[in-house]
Amino acid sequence: MRETLIVGNWKMNGSISLIKEMVETLRSEIDVNNLPCTVAFCPPALYVDSFLAAVKDTGIKVGTQNIYPKPSGAFTGEISAPMLKEWQVDFCIVGHSERRSYFGETDEMVNQKSAILLENGIRPIICVGETLDQRESGEHESVVIDQLNKALANLSSDQLKSCVIAYEPVWAIGTGKTATSEQANQMHKVIRKQLEAISGSETAEAFPILYGGSANAKNAAELLAQSDIDGLLVGGASLKPADFSTMIKAKS
Ligand code: PGA
Repeated sequence: MRETLIVGNWKMNGSISLIKEMVETLRSEIDVNNLPCTVAFCPPALYVDSFLAAVKDTGIKVGTQNIYPKPSGAFTGEISAPMLKEWQVDFCIVGHSERRSYFGETDEMVNQKSAILLENGIRPIICVGETLDQRESGEHESVVIDQLNKALANLSSDQLKSCVIAYEPVWAIGTGKTATSEQANQMHKVIRKQLEAISGSETAEAFPILYGGSANAKNAAELLAQSDIDGLLVGGASLKPADFSTMIKAKS
């Protein structure tokens, strides 16, 4: 049985009051101590403490959206993996297309960030995905395979077992244009095949591969029903308590 994860990526959104509203809604809508799958939120780092306090007696987990790949030092404005470990954060998103395009995050940085997170016991959620141009020119599979190979280079087999992959076609993020469940599942199969080449068939079979890109309360059940879609990385809809709780229920 593969792990299913539903992860909210708040990006640069949210507030203390939204954390309260979200957790109250989830408490009233679902059994937060007996969740149907792994549920996590990645709020802006400034809200991690408040989020952790709000979900303390629940099974809900907390992550962040970025780290700098050094343990400490003169890197003004950055946070490190050992700091996340101290906070008892479970996940960190790495290589999101917004970080790749606005902040110059390269595949090499994705690899370095993943490695230092794993050394500190934090599971990286490694994002891969093609642009519209790359899909239209038929390069989408090779682009994603290349991103995967570089992101996972030199990780040990034990480390690979803690990683999560999120397939997020750039053209579907925040656009309301979801990949069809067939398009997404097809790419997830390509990813799993490549994971098999990287990590062997047993690890690849168990590897959670999430879909992200305009996932919402309406399409969650169909996406989650696909053979190779093991969860969702949710942006916009994770800011809407009722919608996010519907998405979790779509798993149960
Ligand atoms: P979206 O964002 O659900 O708003 O498209 C997904 C993401 O960027 O992780």
